[in-house]
Amino acid sequence: MKNYNIVLLRGDGIGPEIVTEAVKVLNRAAEKHQFTVTYDEALLGGIAIDETGVPLPEETLQKCNAADAVLLGAVGGPKWESQPGNNRPEAGLLGIRAGMGLYANLRPARIFKPLRDASPLKGDIIGEELDIMMVRELTGGIYFGDRGRKMVKGVPAAFDTEMYTVPEVERIARVAFNLARKRGHKLCSVDKANVLESSRLWREVILRVAKEYEDVELSHLYVDNCAMQLVRNPGQFDVVVTSNMFGDILSDEASMISGSIGMLASASLGDGTRGLYEPIHGSAPDIAGQGIANPLATILSVAMMLRFSLDEMEAADAIDAAVAKVLDQGYRTPDIYTEGTKKVDTVTMGQLVVDNL
Ligand code: NAD
Ligand code: IPM
Ligand code: MN
Repeated sequence: MKNYNIVLLRGDGIGPEIVTEAVKVLNRAAEKHQFTVTYDEALLGGIAIDETGVPLPEETLQKCNAADAVLLGAVGGPKWESQPGNNRPEAGLLGIRAGMGLYANLRPARIFKPLRDASPLKGDIIGEELDIMMVRELTGGIYFGDRGRKMVKGVPAAFDTEMYTVPEVERIARVAFNLARKRGHKLCSVDKANVLESSRLWREVILRVAKEYEDVELSHLYVDNCAMQLVRNPGQFDVVVTSNMFGDILSDEASMISGSIGMLASASLGDGTRGLYEPIHGSAPDIAGQGIANPLATILSVAMMLRFSLDEMEAADAIDAAVAKVLDQGYRTPDIYTEGTKKVDTVTMGQLVVDNL
């Protein structure tokens, strides 16, 4: 029987609550689809600061780089907000993405049919079906550029720099084009090339790589227009590729189409098959410890792990199907609750998915 080594980074806030449910689901999937999982735990984020003084201990990175895949809850919270920038929980997250070489972040925004009422968009705007794959560059751009503080004309100032190299854009472009090829053959590249030099380089490289993918219909949008189009007519998008910060912002926006940010999974990938899987949402300090967080984004992230890192396609499809069934049966955590549905807590939602697997 195949065995997979998975590192769990439970993190902060609702992180531990949602990871527990996702692990229950992975264990059930393993039982049914005949593989085994060995877990190891490591510290990342605020909890790592509390226990070791730094958000990304060396041991964590070593464990993650030796695992088959990593499952992360979320990091951050008010407790660590006064930490210096390079020692915040979020710096640990950026560090692990860079340290594992995970430059491609896949964030699928799709709507499960029973959740149409939970979406703030009207039915005719959502259309028959909605399935957008947001591809976010994850280890470059303004998140990783030169930054600092200095005096400018006698007054204190701060700066962050957006920079992309040609190879960085090429590799994320290929990830996006390859995905488009497996889906609807449409790719929209989002930039701010009317203003930013780094975006003009981005667009040049995308256009050059596009010559290798003539079967994919390529379009370009400025990021402000894209933000608007996502709400006006989300059905026009198949695969979207964009920079680190634009992708961060647009994927939170896209998540609401699906009813709640608590529904949106993600996969962070590099050149090999090892990946890091996490919901796109944060540690939700406002609801942490209440047992009401939606675990489905994390559970769907496990499905992505099975698909992209472990090559267990049947188990991945089974988890997606189990989530759809539970939603069909009318069960909802508070964030996706609408009148006439059944409100359940985090643990019950996790158990329902297990029972439907
Ligand atoms: P957030 O995503 O944590 O929360 C935004 C809103 O969405 C909150 O009202 C929250 O209750 C709700 N929400 C989020 N996930 C939910 C879920 N699973 N079920 C139900 N409701 C959910 O964003 P924020 O409040 O801006 O950030 C809080 C902390 O999380 C910050 O420290 C931030 O840096 C961090 N953060 C971490 C990650 C990550 O670890 N990947 C991502 C985003 C934010
Ligand atoms: C996300 C988060 C992170 C990001 C933060 C916490 C560093 O918002 O995963 O979307 O901006 O990438
Ligand atoms: Mn984000």
